[in-house]
Amino acid sequence: MSNEFYAAGEQRAAKVNDLFARIARRYDFLNDLQSFGLHRGWKRRVVRLAQIKPGDRALDLCCGTGDISFALAKDGAQTTGLDFSPQMLEVAAQRQNKNPKSEIRNPKFLQGDAQQLPFGAEEFDVVTVGYGLRNLTSWERGIDEMYRVAKPGARLIVLDFGKPPNALWRALYFTHLQLSVPLIGLLFCGNASAYAYILESLKHYPAQLAVADKMRALKMKDVRVINLLGGAMAINYGEKV
Ligand SMILES: C[S@@+](CC[C@H](N)C(=O)[O-])C[C@H]1O[C@@H](n2cnc3c(N)ncnc32)[C@H](O)[C@@H]1O
Repeated sequence: MSNEFYAAGEQRAAKVNDLFARIARRYDFLNDLQSFGLHRGWKRRVVRLAQIKPGDRALDLCCGTGDISFALAKDGAQTTGLDFSPQMLEVAAQRQNKNPKSEIRNPKFLQGDAQQLPFGAEEFDVVTVGYGLRNLTSWERGIDEMYRVAKPGARLIVLDFGKPPNALWRALYFTHLQLSVPLIGLLFCGNASAYAYILESLKHYPAQLAVADKMRALKMKDVRVINLLGGAMAINYGEKV
């Protein structure tokens, strides 16, 4: 069954933008609910892998409401969070304004397209994307852009829903995404199809193994796949040579 927020090709970005405009205000709450708060630990793992050093510049793509951006900044990186949704960025700004140190403006939030970054080559020591690559019209283009703006030696880290290698676990997990997750979306956000979109987008995304292949094709080093919950979630890591 197709999903109102999924379309292949040119229409994709507008639909994804519409989806996040609708759920932005409830996004953080629903994230906690549907992952039982586990997403917080997975994001902490991303930030640990970033190995922030003094003076590092970090770019967090598809930053949404800013979880990973805030954590990178807290670890000491000069961080830019980029997203194309004004509504998601508005929530990030509200979170920042609640912080008494918000006048420091780290992270800096920016509206932009992850597939066409407004930066020159080799500007960042760390480039992350959390639950964003799967939403792009071309996930390969997203990685190419991450790679382009990364300095030699930079860490590139991708966190997203994955495809479990075990067939039984994969079937159970996809059933959860098909039934329980949209139900939670309906009950707590008034929108089932925005949450049914997760499975639809995952079906069209080749997930952790293909992301690792792409990193290897770019001749990155120390390419790793870290499966979480048996591969239901995954972190891809690689370093630009
Ligand atoms: C599922 S949210 C992830 C938010 C955050 N990274 C997190 O982990 O909680 C996906 C985000 O990707 C953004 N996004 C999707 N396509 C994008 C694009 N082409 N350029 C920039 N942001 C995009 C959406 O607006 C949304 O905020």
